[in-house]
Amino acid sequence: MKFTFAIVAALLGQASAFSSFIGPQASVRQQGSRRSTNLKMSQAQYRDELAKTAAAIASPGKGLMAVDESTKTIGKRLEGIGVENSEENRQAYRGMLFTAPNAGDYVSGAIMYEETLFQNHADGEPFVDKLNKAGIIPGIKVDMGLQPLPGGHPVETWCTGLDGLVERAAKYYAQGARFAKWRAVLQITPDGCPTAASLQENAWGLARYAAAVQESGLVPIVEPEILMDGSHDLATTMKVQKQVLATVYKALADNDVYLPGTLLKPSMTVPGADFEGKVTPEEVAAATIATLEATVPPAVPGITFLSGGLSEEDASIYLNCMNSVERKGPWSLTFSYGRALQQSALKAWGGKADCIKAGQDAFLARAQANSEANLGKYKAGSQPGEASSLFVAGYKY
Ligand code: 13P
Repeated sequence: MKFTFAIVAALLGQASAFSSFIGPQASVRQQGSRRSTNLKMSQAQYRDELAKTAAAIASPGKGLMAVDESTKTIGKRLEGIGVENSEENRQAYRGMLFTAPNAGDYVSGAIMYEETLFQNHADGEPFVDKLNKAGIIPGIKVDMGLQPLPGGHPVETWCTGLDGLVERAAKYYAQGARFAKWRAVLQITPDGCPTAASLQENAWGLARYAAAVQESGLVPIVEPEILMDGSHDLATTMKVQKQVLATVYKALADNDVYLPGTLLKPSMTVPGADFEGKVTPEEVAAATIATLEATVPPAVPGITFLSGGLSEEDASIYLNCMNSVERKGPWSLTFSYGRALQQSALKAWGGKADCIKAGQDAFLARAQANSEANLGKYKAGSQPGEASSLFVAGYKY
């Protein structure tokens, strides 16, 4: 008996020694497969909802308002109209925009900064409720800003915010957000930017972000912005933007991101702000469509452009032009403008309680212009707005 026990114990010991020899690998493999099944299940759980949210954002005649300026950036805007950057003034400004009558006829979603997502209107009602009542889907900027890219060119950056993102996104979902934004930035320079390191890092970051927020039910807006800084021509932007978008969609595929539950937010294909020649809206529209058709899969439901420093009027005219020509790409081409949707509104409001209506009217005018542009029905100059460029070199959002 004792002998048998000793043999069994020895065999078990060997077995356990053997399993500890092969154990780590086997258990990593096991955990790995279990984990990826769990992760897939969690994305699968939201798939229908993700596709519905993305389709609703990209529905005909609708686009996004990007009101997700960081506290520092909104401070610069408020300073421009002589208003102090206090929480109360930020609340008053965003509250003015969110309660513009019938804004939901033109705007399908609002991208907010974290403070705003958790903030109430001055009347006590949560902003999320105000937006939902207006038919505007709440969204949230989830990246934590840009940092210099080690090993890159001095102008290059990488985008931070991946740590704990699945959990943060779940918190935002619980608060009512249904989509997210992550802004990676690339720049064109005569001495070789974007570098391969910048392309890879920014595309990979966008893909990791997209996979992470889909796990928590948020539609990722994938934003690889190419800054307008520089004097390069249209053909150069086109070439670089094709590389950028091809790298981004490869990374999204490698990360198994569910494309019907995503949106792309690119810059339009325009020459650098210091380019000396002239381009027409038709040329911009043709170059942008050709770039997108070469790189963006048809499973993506919508492309929601940033305005990037274009004037309010140019941003509407270019978008209208894209929606007035024949194209193969099936996506809705629409707006997700910050500056080009807010500039006139900010000025008209001026921080004065008795100018709320003036601010709202100015905002609604540009929202309507861009809604019409999404349908290819905008008549240039038919809405009030600014024709001067909003470009700022080295702009930080
Ligand atoms: P602009 O339209 O001002 O470029 O801002 C849009 C945006 O959300 C940039 O991330």
